[in-house]
Amino acid sequence: MSGMDIYYFSGTGNSLHIAKEIKKRIPDASLIPIVSLINKHLKVKDQETIKTSKEVVGFVFPIHLMTFPTPVKKFIEKLDIKSTRYIFAIATRAGTQHIAFNEIKKILRKKGKNLNSCFTLNMACNDPRNKD
Ligand SMILES: Cc1cc2nc3c(=O)[nH]c(=O)nc-3n(C[C@H](O)[C@H](O)[C@H](O)COP(=O)(O)O)c2cc1C
Repeated sequence: MSGMDIYYFSGTGNSLHIAKEIKKRIPDASLIPIVSLINKHLKVKDQETIKTSKEVVGFVFPIHLMTFPTPVKKFIEKLDIKSTRYIFAIATRAGTQHIAFNEIKKILRKKGKNLNSCFTLNMACNDPRNKD
């Protein structure tokens, strides 16, 4: 077992940019758009899962309303990560505080896993509520 899956979700490209920067440095990592999986899997029966066999798994996503987007939450809940040994998360944001990592930790704990590392990056803001 080896390798890395980077699952990303990105509205305007900030999080995709970060995911691509990681891939540049770890070329054998797989870049996987979460939307390509949730279309197929979030509408199927609850007992069905999405499985990764990679040793390292990363999630890259934007902060929405001080937490992480619902499709990402549903995706992580569905993901079978039994064989994964290291899990990281990267949140891109405009600059507010957020609870995303605590929420992800709660989901992972139910799967018997930890969030091994997490990072928040300030990026260009695409929040429609922003008046600046
Ligand atoms: C609906 C919406 C809500 C957002 N809420 C927040 C927020 O609560 N805090 C924050 O710092 N940024 C917020 N942002 C800004 C994004 O997190 C930020 O611009 C992010 O880098 C966008 O990444 P993306 O291009 O990969 O979608 C929000 C953006 C959108 C579209």
